[in-house]
Amino acid sequence: MKKIRKAVFPVAGLGSRFLPATKAQPKEMLPIVDKPLIQYAVEEAVAAGITDMVFVTGRNKRAIEDHFDKAYEMEAELEAAGKDDLLALVRGVIPPHIHCIFIRQPAPLGLGHAVLCARPVIGDEPFAVLLADDLMDADYGQPSVMTQMTRLYAAEQASIVAVQDVPRAFTQQYGIVSGAPYRERLERMSGIIEKPTPEHAPSTLAAGGRYILSNRIFDYLERQDKGLGGEIQLTDAIARLLQSEPVYAYRYAATRYDCGSKLGYLQASVALGLKHPETAAAFAGYLRSLSF
Ligand code: UTP
Repeated sequence: MKKIRKAVFPVAGLGSRFLPATKAQPKEMLPIVDKPLIQYAVEEAVAAGITDMVFVTGRNKRAIEDHFDKAYEMEAELEAAGKDDLLALVRGVIPPHIHCIFIRQPAPLGLGHAVLCARPVIGDEPFAVLLADDLMDADYGQPSVMTQMTRLYAAEQASIVAVQDVPRAFTQQYGIVSGAPYRERLERMSGIIEKPTPEHAPSTLAAGGRYILSNRIFDYLERQDKGLGGEIQLTDAIARLLQSEPVYAYRYAATRYDCGSKLGYLQASVALGLKHPETAAAFAGYLRSLSF
């Protein structure tokens, strides 16, 4: 029985939809209420029992390394000032049993290429991929999406792509999956295609930024030609992987916010602002006071 111990966080994209905010800082460091996007994704992986976090970084991504590093000066100052609550917050960013590994993607050649860059540290294990700009807010009473997926992996021992239904008009923003029902919330995939037009989309089931992948994906990525947009696409390699072994599409129990887009980012800020213990009541009052 294989277990998911390692997660890859591709954070080397250009973030052009969020310029100029992303000119000098990675979009994964944009905060929702009080935490950067990348911290939400790492916490999701930690909750799923993953211990090795592999960040594939690029230009302008130093802030991510610093965020998960020890902040000696800040910790010393907070300690001297007796600000124990803040000290705990800073120290709690990464639990002591978690390993952070940083790998550089030399140029933004695509998500598939970013995942391939992690191969030397993944070895021959299955692994998770989390796109931090897709913020997942698990449904009430449900564990995090990655926990939902690792539980499923424990039963199926096969690759899993997280999916959700989208309006047909939006298929061009996603990898779109085709498949046949397998069991509750699960389809056995027969194909996946990157950003099809609504007329050509085989379904309205869209990949949502969380994957568990069999190690064999690397063999396909290594031989993968450039696809849509001149990029090496993870979707294209998954399309070939599923021809040689089972790959499942999992309808997760969560709301996904595309925080790489301005609208998704604002929606996430409102949704999580209304849940945060420090802001919920006052923010709800403020929203009610607005007249549209
Ligand atoms: P996106 O499609 O959101 O691309 O990448 P992007 O460049 O980050 O953003 P836009 O479209 O220009 O606004 C999906 C994920 O893949 C990572 C991104 O960081 C993001 O998490 N990625 C993409 C890489 O790590 N490397 C790449 O070459 C491309």
